[in-house]
Amino acid sequence: MTGSRAPLLLVAASGLAREAASAAWAAGDEVLGCLDDDLALVGTEVAPGLPVLGTISDVVAHPGALLVVCAGKGASRAAIVERLTGLGVGGERYATVVDPGVRIGAGSSVGAGSILLAGTVLTADVRVGEHVVCMPQVVLTHDCRVESFATVCAGVVLGGGVVIGSQAYVGMAASVRENLCVGTGSTIGMGAVVLRDVPPQETWAGIPARRLGP
Ligand SMILES: CC(C)(COP(=O)(O)OP(=O)(O)OC[C@H]1O[C@@H](n2cnc3c(N)ncnc32)[C@H](O)[C@@H]1OP(=O)(O)O)[C@@H](O)C(=O)NCCC(=O)NCCS
Repeated sequence: MTGSRAPLLLVAASGLAREAASAAWAAGDEVLGCLDDDLALVGTEVAPGLPVLGTISDVVAHPGALLVVCAGKGASRAAIVERLTGLGVGGERYATVVDPGVRIGAGSSVGAGSILLAGTVLTADVRVGEHVVCMPQVVLTHDCRVESFATVCAGVVLGGGVVIGSQAYVGMAASVRENLCVGTGSTIGMGAVVLRDVPPQETWAGIPARRLGP
């Protein structure tokens, strides 16, 4: 975040990549560009100053770059990380992107590869795992845990001690009552108010949130 670390390479030329680049530039980082397997994108710019330099396999041509996986869905980020591991990319190659407008409170930590966009607040003793995405204005209060590859959309508020499971997706402006758990791979609809634990791999929405579908 100081501008003194190695340049960043963003994997997946997505909307999230443009958001991550913007946050990284604001933090003083150099961003080389993106890698994406969509051959129609290779050679284009997804935003001014953000070229698509090649496909994911071309990561081997950039051994000095730090990587940030920018696929919007946690399962897609996990699949890309697995692929990169197969290409010889180790965990030490992943960088965090933390917008300068993020507040990380005492006792909190953010895992490698995670992206925290502007206005996000970790109040105290919050643990954010690896390859997590927190979009703007997310509030994670004391003792929350957001497990690896989870996605927390704009304006989400978590009460104290909430656990968001790996690869879970919490939609815009949802809120979760304190000490509850959103299970691995589950989806919470935008605007939901979650008052009970959500089991793994389910979609819940509404106020109070209830399971959608059969
Ligand atoms: C919950 C969600 C995943 C469901 O998507 P879906 O499976 O495509 O569901 P549908 O849109 O077909 O809707 C199914 C039913 O759920 C209802 N529903 C959908 N989203 C809802 C929500 N957020 N709150 C309350 N009800 C919702 C629909 O009205 C519909 O009800 P009906 O069957 O009585 O007509 C989706 O609506 C959502 O909220 N996604 C998060 C979006 C978001 O935060 N994006 C951020 C991008 S950065």
